[in-house]
Amino acid sequence: MKEQLNSIRFNAEKELENISSIQELENVRIKYLGKKGELTSVLRGMGALSAEERPVIGQLANEIRGYLEEKIDNVKQVLVKKEKQEKLQQEVIDVTMPGKRRSLGKKHPLSIVLDEIKDIFIGMGFEIAEGPEVELDYYNFEALNIPKNHPARDTQDTFYINENIVLRTQTSPVQIRTMENKKPPIRVISPGRVYRSDAVDATHSPVFHQIEGLVVDKNVTMGDLKGTLEVFAKRLYGEDAKVRFRPHHFPFTEPSAEMDVSCFVCGGSGCRVCKGEGWIEILGSGMVHPKVLKICGIDPEEYSGFAFGMGLERIVMRRFDIDDLRLFFENDMRFLKQF
Ligand code: DAH
Repeated sequence: MKEQLNSIRFNAEKELENISSIQELENVRIKYLGKKGELTSVLRGMGALSAEERPVIGQLANEIRGYLEEKIDNVKQVLVKKEKQEKLQQEVIDVTMPGKRRSLGKKHPLSIVLDEIKDIFIGMGFEIAEGPEVELDYYNFEALNIPKNHPARDTQDTFYINENIVLRTQTSPVQIRTMENKKPPIRVISPGRVYRSDAVDATHSPVFHQIEGLVVDKNVTMGDLKGTLEVFAKRLYGEDAKVRFRPHHFPFTEPSAEMDVSCFVCGGSGCRVCKGEGWIEILGSGMVHPKVLKICGIDPEEYSGFAFGMGLERIVMRRFDIDDLRLFFENDMRFLKQF
């Protein structure tokens, strides 16, 4: 039995010399020291020994167990260190490697100009207001003093969801919603999508964008309208830009005017962009109709206001010399990459 024990020690030691992984080490441990291991089964046979032999063999077996346990532990520590080192080596990061180039997205041309326009008005103390694109007929027409028989309500222009609900044809309903929810002084612009039942071509799209503006306070005059919009035009087109106002008609303003800007390409002498006119029409505007103020619960005797509305696509098309509106909505990278 003594010999058996010694040969267990000898064999185990030998195997431990050639271990290269923690898993292998564990296998060796189980093989010799495990519950069904070789050392254990020798100890089980001790019952057959005489009373004198038993303590001698028992002591030897325990010595060998202790010895092997220590050995295994040492080998284990070496292995753990080695595996850690290897792992670190594999995970080494070469900080001098060139980075992977990510392709950067770009702002859509409509967003480029819209952001500029927003900044200009925010700089003048305006806030941004929003309203729903699926709108009540009341806000889109009725409250804006657009009576039932007005041509703007013609089903040719308006997408009706049902008798009372439309896709908004203009951003002007946000005026009404703002005045309903806020007391003057009011200074807001409201950019957003609008819808009209137009056939698609180079200058028409059933969806496009408008930017609405509204100012309501005590003593707001046509002079404030002209001054504000002139500053806006100069910030957008440069200090040399000139503006002119032409009388016009909108149901929700009185008086109403359209504003032209001197052509930013030829400066007014006439060219292809302004079609020889020297002037480019950029927005509709006017003093908020007293009826509209009243409908929103604002006393027209105490307050007055001006409003304006412009189409974003046309402004952007002229800015970048884009000749087809459809390009804005096709998301063709070759087009979008140019801005
Ligand atoms: N909503 C008008 C349109 O779609 C544009 C407009 C004109 C808005 C005059 C206004 C305004 O607020 O005062 O043609």
